[in-house]
Amino acid sequence: MYLGLKHLHMTLAIISILGFVLRGIWLFSNSQLLAKKPVKILPHIIDTILLASGITLMVMSSQYPAIFNWVTLKLVFIVAYIAFGIFTFKAQAKNKQVLFFLLALGSVMAVLHLAFSKPLF
Ligand code: HEM
Repeated sequence: MYLGLKHLHMTLAIISILGFVLRGIWLFSNSQLLAKKPVKILPHIIDTILLASGITLMVMSSQYPAIFNWVTLKLVFIVAYIAFGIFTFKAQAKNKQVLFFLLALGSVMAVLHLAFSKPLF
């Protein structure tokens, strides 16, 4: 049960990141695909299940954000990934879009690194 959920969580994490990169490419190439309804709705569905599965794993494995541990730091970078992702598609100027896109990618790379290495502070 736990392992199955963890695999679902990891698969959704990969789909979320690849989907974000793909939408970034469409944004920078001025593609009409970005305006399609499924492209607007699907990321929200995927990210909601990703977050819900993450919270369920956290409860099942009793790995809670302590005063400062890898779960706390992971949550900080998840919030940064979501916020910079929103800014990427809301910004009007190209240079701001590129900056927020790179900041979002950097944040989600930090999330992945923390998820795999689970460092002890
Ligand atoms: C951008 C969002 C997220 C990404 C990219 C992500 C990525 C990952 C990855 C790759 C793993 C597997 C690591 C391993 O092999 O041990 C994992 C596990 C886990 N994640 Fe996430 N995650 C995300 C969101 C969340 C959230 C929101 C929570 C909790 C609030 C969470 C809690 C956990 C927990 C508890 C595990 C299991 C650790 C273990 O059993 O060893 N994740 N995550």
